Amino acid sequence: MTEKLKPILFDVPSELIGERVVLRAFRDEHAPDLWNAVEASRAHLKPWMPWVNDHNSLEFSREYVRRMQAKWILREDLPMGIWRKGDGQFLGATGLHRMDWSVPSMEIGYWLRPDARGNGYVTEAVKLITQFAFTHMRAERVTICCSSKNLRSAGVPPRAGYVHEATMRHERRDADGNLDDTERFAMSRADFDKLHG
Ligand SMILES: CC(C)(COP(=O)(O)OP(=O)(O)OC[C@H]1O[C@@H](n2cnc3c(N)ncnc32)[C@H](O)[C@@H]1OP(=O)(O)O)[C@@H](O)C(=O)NCCC(=O)NCCS
Repeated sequence: MTEKLKPILFDVPSELIGERVVLRAFRDEHAPDLWNAVEASRAHLKPWMPWVNDHNSLEFSREYVRRMQAKWILREDLPMGIWRKGDGQFLGATGLHRMDWSVPSMEIGYWLRPDARGNGYVTEAVKLITQFAFTHMRAERVTICCSSKNLRSAGVPPRAGYVHEATMRHERRDADGNLDDTERFAMSRADFDKLHG
């Protein structure tokens, strides 16, 4: 029998600091950063992240960061912004989603502004949030999923030490409504312990 977890009582840091990036739980004052980055990223997010169509005003960003603060406190969803340490520029977002506390397992998502790609920032962010999941959130399993066509996204998990676990055929529809495959990557606690031996 495992103990009944009470994630709401887990102590969590409000920021995760890496070599080049810092991840922070969203606060009210982050809404303009988020809105500007979504506007700059709309075209390249659209094929992979359909939520971008609804994210269509600064007011939406303001509502989003408020809602996410509530979900953060309840440990229902743990989204974080990604900032560059050097100049404080907002680069994009990541987070732990689809929490299943009975395992516990969770899934990482991510996106970057197009002009921030190609520097390894998301790989660094994924390593940070993976550490956060296995330590503070007591994860036993963390997954990362993407469309088989999203080659840039599929490049991230292996760089962060994740294993390709499955190709799930016709698991989703793409932005045009066509059936699409999903690549699933995973890290177990044993994998994590081995990496951090
Ligand atoms: C998916 C996405 C976040 C990947 O961004 P990315 O910059 O390619 O990812 P990384 O941060 O891991 O950077 C890797 C790139 O930086 C390069 N790089 C440079 N310095 C690096 C370093 N120190 N460490 C690792 N990679 C480095 C790598 O060679 C690689 O470049 P390449 O693809 O030209 O070989 C980005 O394309 C995106 O936002 N896409 C739209 C949203 C999306 O699809 N999200 C995922 C939905 S499942």
